[in-house]
Amino acid sequence: MVFVVAGWGWTEIDGARVEWGPGDSLHLPAWAWHRSGNDGGETTRYLTFSSEPLLHTMGMAILEDAGTTDVADLPQRPAYTEHLDGDDPYARRVRRLSREQQARRGGRLHTSWDDLELRNTPRGTRTTFLLDRAIGYQASGITMAMFEIAPGRGQSMHRHPGEAWLYVVEGSGHSYLGTEPEGGEMHPWQKGDIIVVDHFLWHQHLNTDPGRTAKVVRIHMFDTLLETMRALCDPLVLFEEPPDHIRDAQARDPSTVDWPELTRPTWP
Ligand SMILES: [Fe+2]
Repeated sequence: MVFVVAGWGWTEIDGARVEWGPGDSLHLPAWAWHRSGNDGGETTRYLTFSSEPLLHTMGMAILEDAGTTDVADLPQRPAYTEHLDGDDPYARRVRRLSREQQARRGGRLHTSWDDLELRNTPRGTRTTFLLDRAIGYQASGITMAMFEIAPGRGQSMHRHPGEAWLYVVEGSGHSYLGTEPEGGEMHPWQKGDIIVVDHFLWHQHLNTDPGRTAKVVRIHMFDTLLETMRALCDPLVLFEEPPDHIRDAQARDPSTVDWPELTRPTWP
């Protein structure tokens, strides 16, 4: 997954060229050949997040560098059987895997900043998906969203077993991290910082700037890891929030905020 921080450029994904600018998000699907470039005079900067740690655990992390070879001269993605007749378990499994693979190879590749629409959430922020199954992406469980915190406000506290990475696009604040809802530590952050929330820590992100909103991009390894843990750890609770009256007091009502216009990120 790619989040562009500065500059304008392009990425070729299995031969399809995508033009991008600051604040845009891209998905580089598993097995897809990809290369990026910048035809302008301005430096471009982007962040990439991948599911490599998970694949490494399974012995599946590989990388093939083809230099500048034209995509037409490169091998295709791994072949698979599209259809087998029959009602036996093997034929049904082949058809299921084929359907899933076709969906994965047909997923969305690009979200432009210009198309983002942030919506208020019960946890006190306004939020939009950047790369997620909910908006047509087919990633390997990794998901990216952006939330905006109003001046002096925060996102309500919660915890989950998958770790989260958060990149601060604009603003400054601090995050509560602790093994309990009280007694943990506050960690300050500002534009350009990465916050790492370790597994199953209670956490809350607060905007300490009295005048400006804070925009934060968050990346989770969500579906696949949580599905596995759900199967292995049932009935362990995998997403925990405080009781509603505590959550609502922390979140306050985001509809009372006069949100600023959404402008593309700047660097530095
Ligand atoms: Fe979280």
